[in-house]
Amino acid sequence: MLTLGVLISGRGSNLQAILAAIADGRLHARVAVVISNVADAPGLAHASAAGVPTEVHSHRGWPSREDYDARLVQVLRAHQVDLVCLAGFMRRLTSVLIDAFPNRVLNVHPSLLPAFPGVDAQRQALDYGVRVAGCTVHLVTPTVDAGPIVLQAAVPVADGDTVETLSARILREEHRLYPEAIRLIGEGRGRVEGRRWLSDPR
Ligand code: GRF
Repeated sequence: MLTLGVLISGRGSNLQAILAAIADGRLHARVAVVISNVADAPGLAHASAAGVPTEVHSHRGWPSREDYDARLVQVLRAHQVDLVCLAGFMRRLTSVLIDAFPNRVLNVHPSLLPAFPGVDAQRQALDYGVRVAGCTVHLVTPTVDAGPIVLQAAVPVADGDTVETLSARILREEHRLYPEAIRLIGEGRGRVEGRRWLSDPR
């Protein structure tokens, strides 16, 4: 069974979706720890409600990003985490963390990568005028939002969409996709080859 460490900075709705998938048996995993870099992240309450230990580790005050990541690695290892799930964690990771968990750091991003990486992906999609938007679950590499893609889901963009309505449509798909991607990885249903994640047929 996979032991997850989930990193958040805010709302934590993807964390909630992961916890719900575990609770109703869709996902055979355990969340060992939820780490937030923001002390009052609302998502921390979802973890506590599910009986999951939480830790707050601010990114502030460290000499370098690498030092902060080394602290995160320590905490994740202390909880025997074998898959790190970024769920709205608003920090760029360095190779200190990424190399400590090779091909074992996942992220969910609210666009069909490689379109619209970085912040405000839904705003970028609307400004560009795309007719199809979506979300991506991918493995994390040191280049932001550029790692091997595990799963993607598309949603239509409506003429009257605002950032809020489009984000809500995308978020529903994130909540379905993220637990599913974790399940595939937990079941060893794929492997990384070059920059691609290839799913093994069953
Ligand atoms: C999601 O849109 C996710 O794709 C992005 O940050 C947001 C986090 O939302 N990386 P939540 O905290 O999981 O509700």
